[in-house]
Amino acid sequence: MTKVYFDNAATTAMDDRVIEAMLPFMKSHFGNPSSVHSHGREVRTAIEKSRKKVAELLNASPSEIFFTSGGTEADNTALVCGVESHGITHVISSPIEHHAVLHTLEVLAKKGTVKLSLLDVNEKGEIDYNQLENLLKSNPGSLISLMHANNEIGNLNDLNRIGALAKEFGAFFHSDTVQTMGHYVHDLKNLPVDAIVAGGHKFHGPKGSGFLFVRKEKKIHPFIHGGAQERNMRGGTENVIGIIGIAKALELAYEDMAGHRSHIEKIKKHFIEMLKAELPGVEFNGLSADMEKSLYTVLNVSLPPSESNRGMLLFNLDLAGISASGGSACSSGATVGSHVLRALNHNPERDSVRFSFSRFSGHLCRQLPPRPKTHRKRRQVCAALPSGLGSARQLARRHPQPMSKNRSGHRGLDQRPQAARLVGRYTCGLGRRIWKDGVQSGHAHGG
Ligand SMILES: Cc1ncc(COP(=O)(O)O)c(C=O)c1O
Repeated sequence: MTKVYFDNAATTAMDDRVIEAMLPFMKSHFGNPSSVHSHGREVRTAIEKSRKKVAELLNASPSEIFFTSGGTEADNTALVCGVESHGITHVISSPIEHHAVLHTLEVLAKKGTVKLSLLDVNEKGEIDYNQLENLLKSNPGSLISLMHANNEIGNLNDLNRIGALAKEFGAFFHSDTVQTMGHYVHDLKNLPVDAIVAGGHKFHGPKGSGFLFVRKEKKIHPFIHGGAQERNMRGGTENVIGIIGIAKALELAYEDMAGHRSHIEKIKKHFIEMLKAELPGVEFNGLSADMEKSLYTVLNVSLPPSESNRGMLLFNLDLAGISASGGSACSSGATVGSHVLRALNHNPERDSVRFSFSRFSGHLCRQLPPRPKTHRKRRQVCAALPSGLGSARQLARRHPQPMSKNRSGHRGLDQRPQAARLVGRYTCGLGRRIWKDGVQSGHAHGG
């Protein structure tokens, strides 16, 4: 069965060119960057080159970039040390932030270090900018933590608008940019943020790599104590291969960001059109179907309530060879755990699935025969495409009475067939369109 990967908000495949850049640092360039001998110095030089590269791409100063173990550590550092270093006692955030932010803030609030105010969000997941302004008026000098794009529903926040308010009321503005780094241009000389973060594995770099940007004027204390690495900002021998990898991945992301974006947007638009055409009553969570107001890599689909598919959708997608997710990676496989959908008052009767794309999403098409001419071949392509339609049909055959109860009296497994058919139906159409897009027009993005 051809397997297809639509879970790029959870993690992305590494670009071969990133791996190539990292390899020498696993083999010959093994020195400790803190060592003064030549083995150490060559690795130190490579780290500083990587820092310079990242800083150049983001229009920042190298002294404002600190490498971390990923987005989570970078968020923790910005929040815990931002609060401590600037004597902040009030934090404004939202209930749909990633847990790397929310749980960190909850700990700070529980300890009594800060008072935490969470903005209201409407049923589309939009924050209330007037409420933000009012909170800042009554709590000047707060820390604001609002993400650039939501990892589950893709909503984009207006960083310029939030940053302007932060400036007006003397706030420290941290934004979790894990989902937008490498997908949008961050011009840090002009973007009014004080701290942003990145995780390399979200843009075809290695897992366990990341960085934190902190504006020079808003210096913070270290989070991890130890040696003098990262200009005394993060103790511990550097993850050299991670640093080389994330810098290379960011360089590749910036090389043709507009091309990658238009490729991914086409796929997302096809998903939206096709799902609307094939599934009456389909809805899209948050602003994810709004091409202007949402992350172009994420589409969060809400299916009409159905006795027969409830809770089985991801399972059936997986059986059909499609990897997608119910929310964030942490709650993959279950929508019940999504604090984001809960905050939007999402109808729990509706199953939700997040499809997320990358510049490699079209790769699937290359495994297929070029331009099949006959109807039969076309059907073959369609069946081989993401759906793994065959297995969905088999399932449907094995369980011909979708609504009947199984032996134990539960609707459990017997709910499969309809969902399977549903999955088969729409993924087949989706496959055909991706095939059209990816093969006929000869798109070949990515490494
Ligand atoms: C918005 C957001 N913030 C933070 C993180 C955590 O990043 P990392 O996996 O690099 O620790 C993620 C990862 O899913 C994310 O999507």
